[in-house]
Order: sequence, then structure tokens, then C-alpha cells
Amino acid sequence: MANLGISLSLGLLIYAHAMDVTALWPGAGPTRYYEFRVQTMKLKKLCQTNKIVTINQMFPGPVVYAQEDDRVIVRVINETPYNATVHWHGVRQMLSCWSDGPSYITQCPIQSGQTFTYEFSLVKQKGTLMWHAHFSWLRATVYGAIVIYPKLGVPYPFKSPHEEHIIILGEYWMRDVVKLEQAVIADGGVPPPADAFTINGHPGPNYNCSDNDVYKIDVVPGKTYLLRLISATLNTESFFTIANHKITIVEADGEYAKPFTTDRVMLGPGQTLNVLVTANQPIGRYSMAMGPYISGKNVSFQNISSLAYFNYLGALPNSAAVAASLPRFNDNLAVATVMDGLRSLNSGDVPKEIDENLFFTIGLNVEKCQSSNPKKNCQGNNGGVMAASMNNITFTRPNVSVLQAYYSKINGLFTEDFPGVPLKFYDFVNGAPNTAPNNTQSLTGTRTKVLEFGTRVQLILQDTGTVTTENHPVHLHGYSFYVVGYGTGNYNPQSSKFNLVDPPYMNTIGVPVGGWAAIRFVADNPGVWFMHCHLEIHLTWGLSTVFIVKNGKGPLQTLPRPPADLPRC
Ligand code: C2O
Repeated sequence: MANLGISLSLGLLIYAHAMDVTALWPGAGPTRYYEFRVQTMKLKKLCQTNKIVTINQMFPGPVVYAQEDDRVIVRVINETPYNATVHWHGVRQMLSCWSDGPSYITQCPIQSGQTFTYEFSLVKQKGTLMWHAHFSWLRATVYGAIVIYPKLGVPYPFKSPHEEHIIILGEYWMRDVVKLEQAVIADGGVPPPADAFTINGHPGPNYNCSDNDVYKIDVVPGKTYLLRLISATLNTESFFTIANHKITIVEADGEYAKPFTTDRVMLGPGQTLNVLVTANQPIGRYSMAMGPYISGKNVSFQNISSLAYFNYLGALPNSAAVAASLPRFNDNLAVATVMDGLRSLNSGDVPKEIDENLFFTIGLNVEKCQSSNPKKNCQGNNGGVMAASMNNITFTRPNVSVLQAYYSKINGLFTEDFPGVPLKFYDFVNGAPNTAPNNTQSLTGTRTKVLEFGTRVQLILQDTGTVTTENHPVHLHGYSFYVVGYGTGNYNPQSSKFNLVDPPYMNTIGVPVGGWAAIRFVADNPGVWFMHCHLEIHLTWGLSTVFIVKNGKGPLQTLPRPPADLPRC
């Protein structure tokens, strides 16, 4: 675990801090302190020097290590000219919504030169999660792993691995990603594909000038390794495979899973998988490969796979790597197969009854060109402007965070009228107005859905074909949810079968292309919680909404007051 040790010592820093900020969850374990300096750094990759934003000059960023129930305090100092925030993706943030991190949802960004301290407890959480920037497209390079070990003396529910390695999949642009987002918004069209895919920041030998920019794991023949796979890609979902080796999934999104063995996995951005791999092949060097999963039609994408090496000790140096075979970019079956294999290790407390039955469509839109210079501003399909929506409402983020507006009862910044079901029902998948030349008429607004504390929610997420059907990795902040069902086509309550026994418990669900997924959760964490497609361009286009979960009446059911250093807008 040498590579883990180094990042630990770099990332960990003890400093004095006044402990008055948020309520401590009872039974919280020891506190882990980190200091994250948001900094720009010059990086040479693919024959070009590029300025990227990092934490502590590391790419990927430092690993946050903790144990179940620990308290984590991260002081973030923004030394870049950009705005910044950090989101702790998959951390439930019990009573600590102020530390969740999405800009303009729970906080205003940390401005250049400013500092904000995030504080939260990892209540009953363990496994692999991730953190990433949540301002503009900064998370293209501002990301890292969160590794939460079980409590002392509690073993993994599988044979203890010989070693553990973190593998983060990324997408790399040789340009300023904040400017890139602004340019895409300005021209109304679709963004260019990434310049490269990366594994732990390395594109690998398939790219120009990248022969030696490749990540490798040295393995001992016969031993079993735990790989903590994390997808930190921006706009693309990814396949991952290892030549000639089986992959056994034992955990998904930080929750143990029944072991499921497969040749390849798919991760949407934000998703994490812990997998076991045994070095049981002839001594040699084997490729670990990452490539795109593109389920939408007419999407231009980067099609060069990123390679890393699974390298047996004793393999001849510079021996040719055994090639890995990735699924084809549009292999929906490969995705469905892995999804079918995901089951919680134990049966959890899946809500059997529900109080709120919600139905949200998710998909893209093309809005009518309003510009006097359509060539410049309306480069979307058919000369329109690209957008995206939930229940055909394109979400707009306010200039002050929704949480501050809600908590301080500031009027006029958001509304509470996000509809629980679509305004119109039709054949969402096949009968969508694909033919509308350039105006699929989404409404706009900062519309939120309010939930009473303790509500047992079922939410059907339904993909639409308004522009193209597509697999959307939908992420909910502040909660994990049971994925009780999914399927292709339009959701039909009569014919769909639900698993209420051992469904996976996740924080991000890849809603099948041209299909639906049903999730359940209990709204037991008060605050303002973002839900959005984790393909960043879809977030830019408005594929999101916000749940406001009210305070309850019991103890530990009230959101504490905001921290004193909460950034100002
Ligand atoms: Cu990992 Cu709102 O995101």
C-alpha cells in the first residue's frame, strides 16, 4: 500500500480549529483533519503543457482516509483565480447539509483567496467514495478518493486482499475547463470530446507522447487484489476491463454487494466499485483498459482507450502487454448484465410502503434560438440551443444558494412547485417530439420539491427520447437509495417487477437508455439536496432538481445553523 501511504502524508495536516460549527453526530469516532489548497499547476501531458486546477498540486488529488463513523474536517483554501467548492460524493452528510458542497445549492462558491471548512461525520458509512469540485467543470481535474475503512477489528466480508489500489478513471482536456463550459453555453451546441481518457491521471500508450505516461500495478502471482474503482469522468460513462482476468464486484457506491464475477464493468461518473482481482494467469503484463460507453445517438466522442498495466512480478521488462478487449462503445447488453448482477450483500431496510410516489422524466431538449446571431449562439440540433430537463423543467441555479435562501427565508430565489409527475404523459421513449425542429419547450426555473421529514419516497426516473435516448447517471446528494427496479421502455406499474429483498443501495444510478429505474429512500436528513445527471454537460444544460427535506420534530432531526465561515456570494 506504499502509494496510499504517500498521499496520506501529503494530504493530512493537523491544525487548530474551533469546534462550534455543526452538531456532532452522537457516537462519532475520532476526527481526521485535512487541508486542501486549491491551486493551479502546470502539467505536461500529450505533448502539451496545460495549466490545471488541483488540490495540493496533486493529480488525482489527495486521498481522504477515515474509518466508519469518523468525523472529517477539511479546510479548503482557494488559491486559484476561479471560484471553487468541494463535494463529498456519496457522504450522507447527516445534519451537515452546509458541508455538502454543490455551488449555488448548499453554498456560494469559495472565492479566490477565501477559505471554507467542511465538517461531516461518516455515519454508518464505509467503502470507497469520491470527492470532487462542484463549480463549473473544475472537477475535470479536481477529484480524489475517499477511503473509509471498517471499524477497528471488523473484517471485510470477503477474503482479505493482499493489497489495495485506487483506480480513478478520468477525462482530460488540454484547455481551461471553466472557459470551455462558458464557450459551450455561449454557442448553444454540444461540447467537444475530451482529449484523452485517463487512469489515475495517465492516458497510457495509445495516445501521442504518452508511452511512458502510464499507470501500473505490480502484482505477485497467486495473490488477490482489491481495486477501488472510481469514475471521475466528466461527460462520458466508461467501461473498464483487465485482459484475461475476472473481476469480482464486492461493493458498489460504498455498500457491500453479493460477490458478482464478470469480465468488465461500466461506471458512470460518480460511481464507485470495489472489485477483487486474482493474479492467476501466466506471468506477464496485462492491460487494464478504460473506454467509452456511449448510448446516445449521433454523439461525437473520444474513442481511444486509456491503458494501464496489471504487471506480474517476474514479467520481462518492456514485455508486450496482453491486450484487453473492451465492449463496443454502444454495448447496452454489457451494461445490463452488470446491473443485473448487483445485489446488496445483506437485505437492508428497504421501504416496503411508500408515502410519496414520484415520477420524473429525464432527458435533453432543444430550445428555440432567441439570438440575433444564430450562427454564434445557436449551434444546437437544427439551429436551436441545447438544454436538458427533469419533468421537462430546465433547472436554473440562483445567485445565492438555495439552502441559504430556504434557511433564511429569503423570498424570490426559488419556488416549491417542482411537479411530482410530468405535466404531460405520452410515449416518453418512442413518441417524444423528436421531430420538433428546434423547440421542445421545456419550462425553466429554480423549482424544488419539498418533502416532509420521514417521507418514504419512491421515485421513478424515466428516460425520454426527446433528443436521443441515453443512459443517464442520476445522482442524489445527501442520500443513498435502493434501486428496487429498472427496465427498458416506458415504466409500467402493472408489468414491472421490483426487488424489495436485496436491491443495491447506491448514490448514483445509471438509468437505462430508453428505460427507467425505480428508487426508494426515506427522507430522514433535513436540508436542501441536489439531484442531477452526473454527466457534467447535462448538469450545465439543466438536468437537475432540488429536494428540500424539512426538519423533523424529534432529536437530531433539525438542520443546525450555518457555519460562521460559510462563503458569501
Ligand atoms: Cu458528484 Cu452533485 O455531484
